[in-house]
Amino acid sequence: METLNPQTSQRESVRFLVFSASLRKDSFNTKLAKLAASIVENHGGLVDYANMSEFECPSFNQDLESDGQQPPGAVNLKNRILSNNALIISSPEYNGGMPGYLKNAIDWVSRVRPQPFNEKNALLLSASPSMAGGNRALWMLRMPFEHLGTRVYPDMFSLAMAHKALTPEGEIMDATLAKRFEDNLINFMNLVEAAVHYPCIKKAWVEFLGEKPDPVTERVE
Ligand SMILES: Cc1cc2nc3c(=O)[nH]c(=O)nc-3n(C[C@H](O)[C@H](O)[C@H](O)COP(=O)(O)O)c2cc1C
Repeated sequence: METLNPQTSQRESVRFLVFSASLRKDSFNTKLAKLAASIVENHGGLVDYANMSEFECPSFNQDLESDGQQPPGAVNLKNRILSNNALIISSPEYNGGMPGYLKNAIDWVSRVRPQPFNEKNALLLSASPSMAGGNRALWMLRMPFEHLGTRVYPDMFSLAMAHKALTPEGEIMDATLAKRFEDNLINFMNLVEAAVHYPCIKKAWVEFLGEKPDPVTERVE
């Protein structure tokens, strides 16, 4: 029997919001986000590329939240999340964590109902001149996302020594690392495609003490 190669077979349409969480002009994270976007497109995904500057928000203050009003940056981010199936974010690491303005934008958007991050798949990337590649920022970023119900992909990618690791054209110089990056993206794309187009019968499993077995749902399973 012929086996389908998920890397080359035709995909169902899946839309990815891709952005770099750096505001810096020559940002390594922007280069990595653009590389990710081109790989996603090469493998049949649809890319909605955004700049962090489109999502800038004033410092969150509950007193500013009259009648559920949101600043334009938060409205933009909310709309872009809702019009895509999944997120790919490349974030700098500042002092062992994510940039404050990124957490601030997440806080603003988290106030929208229904809450837009819930049940979205996300892939986290980082780039830094350091040896750890900004990886700690991604562990920190996981916390608010998982708190908000985002399905954060287990494999994260952090580009160490980013000032030496990229070619002038923005490719990853080391062939083994470049292949790992591409595979990471393809695996994420496969998961999102499955989540969007081939959902299982029982979408949510809520388990708590005292839950009574229900013959109807047991039978569906
Ligand atoms: C305030 C500040 C704190 C930083 N802290 C870290 C850090 O904890 N870990 C790290 O790897 N790099 C750190 N850096 C260096 C950044 O990784 C580097 O500036 C990187 O180029 C930022 O990402 P970008 O190129 O996408 O803008 C820090 C930079 C700044 C400005």
